[in-house]
Amino acid sequence: MKLLVTGGAGYVGSVCAARLVEAGHEVVVLDDLSTGHADAVPDGVRLIEADINDVIDEVLAEGYDGVLHFAAKSLVGESMEDPAKYWHGNVGTALKLLDAMLAHGTPRLVFSSTAACYGEPDEVPILETAPTRPTNTYGATKLAIDHAITGYAAAHGLAAVSLRYFNVAGAYGRFGERHATETHLIPIVLQVASGTRAKVAMYGDDYPTEDGTCVRDYIHVVDLADAHVKAIGAATAGEHRIYNLGNGFGFTVKQVIEACREVTGHEIPADVAPRRAGDPAVLVASSEKARTELGWKPERVDLAGIVRDAWEFTRSRSQGA
Ligand code: UFG
Repeated sequence: MKLLVTGGAGYVGSVCAARLVEAGHEVVVLDDLSTGHADAVPDGVRLIEADINDVIDEVLAEGYDGVLHFAAKSLVGESMEDPAKYWHGNVGTALKLLDAMLAHGTPRLVFSSTAACYGEPDEVPILETAPTRPTNTYGATKLAIDHAITGYAAAHGLAAVSLRYFNVAGAYGRFGERHATETHLIPIVLQVASGTRAKVAMYGDDYPTEDGTCVRDYIHVVDLADAHVKAIGAATAGEHRIYNLGNGFGFTVKQVIEACREVTGHEIPADVAPRRAGDPAVLVASSEKARTELGWKPERVDLAGIVRDAWEFTRSRSQGA
């Protein structure tokens, strides 16, 4: 298939672009490089460096079999301070994309959604049928886009799949996480191991969990990418399917830091800090639906393995490779 990957110069988008190319698809990346990196675009893939809002009509007029839409603002804290940036940047842009897909008859969409659509869960593991009550603007914008996609699929025959990610981690060779503003646990802990940060702040140790720190479901970015490859193939006209993507079990913040110590051999000083607003105690996915309907199975579930891949990436970057 000829596929457009928006945000394909970012962390998850670049790994997906690489796996789609390996699966035999023709991939074009559309990215404004506001948070992505031109050198994260896989070799041989054309990069259109532009804002979706300015060029999407012209680009889709070339004729595509599908779009994988990753381009988005994704900082939870920022989304609370500057909601307009998220409502316009995420929802406004997605609507523009949907309209352009309709205008040019682009049949398939895979959308990068999030566990943040669910908010504080009543039950874990979280099923796709769980109530959606986002606790931050970021999650609210992703959920709004999911609703829009449902409507466009039903009314216009779009074949759509939304994938709700839990905690994406790890790297794929030279494709990894390098955000200007880093908020995610594993890259922060590895910054301490590599000497670019003094210590880790553990946000809260009084949660109702086995060691008092928050539990998250860490999924390897390559397993996540492979779900996208399956999703674009499985998308069915007129249907909007939603799948959670996680490994189905969680690790505490302390366990993650310990795994990083073991993998890196560094001491990694960590202090307890106050809770971070809006952090649920436990977020673990049920991915049974993706396993059954997409035939997807995460292969890289070992936490040490996830950390090792992220550490290799961190080290190669700090050595300027
Ligand atoms: N944490 C720390 N110290 C840090 C960074 C994180 O203790 O310096 C803790 C957090 O409090 C949380 C856990 O580590 O308990 C994981 O935090 P991340 O920021 O890595 O990830 P989140 O679980 O907050 O975020 C993930 C996705 C978001 C999504 C959110 C849904 O990355 O995109 O789940 O709640 F919005």
